[in-house]
Amino acid sequence: MLPLSVTFGFRNFSSLPVKSVDKEYVEERSPVAETPKQIKFLKSLAPPLMAALVALSPLCNPPASLGQLTDVQRGATLFRRACIGCHDGGGNIIQPGATLFLQDLQRNDVDKEEELYKITYYGKGRMPGFGENCTPRGQCTFGPRLQDEEIKLLAEFVKLQADQGWPSIESYGD
Ligand code: HEC
Repeated sequence: MLPLSVTFGFRNFSSLPVKSVDKEYVEERSPVAETPKQIKFLKSLAPPLMAALVALSPLCNPPASLGQLTDVQRGATLFRRACIGCHDGGGNIIQPGATLFLQDLQRNDVDKEEELYKITYYGKGRMPGFGENCTPRGQCTFGPRLQDEEIKLLAEFVKLQADQGWPSIESYGD
């Protein structure tokens, strides 16, 4: 009987978003006398189970913080983190002729996803590169580097946004 209910509880909790097991959820329900023993037991199991799930998730998923978002949302999140300082709204505050709008990308012959990837990885002119193996150092960001997969998401995201004329990215949750 016990193993069955444990399996059931595990499946149930694993389908919930990580957020739902927050402090309130756990603390709100102080053990009440009428609570059936088994439910109490499952509840006491929830935090360690969630901890185990969160700990294991990098094995099969990308980092937990980005793991539950779509590629576009992840791209938007990365863009807000690493690019928006110079490219807010798809513009370019340093070099006005090199925005991320399709017209500029095409004129500068960098409108293919491959080219977007390369520029983001190695940088170009006064744009720093973000790739883990970006060289030379002076051409690369002093901030945190991005993983190859993240740069791919960014290239896809920039391409998508350029094709759509850079609609607001505020609505993409992070
Ligand atoms: C410190 C400011 C800065 C940051 C941060 C920055 N860029 Fe740039 N970006 C530039 C500059 C300057 C250029 C123009 C480079 C050139 O053509 O010489 C540029 C050019 C580009 C281009 C080519 C645009 C064109 O029309 O030729 C792409 C694509 C691009 N950046 C993507 C990104 C992405 C993606 C990020 C975030 C990972 C990012 N940039 C972060 C400054 C920046």
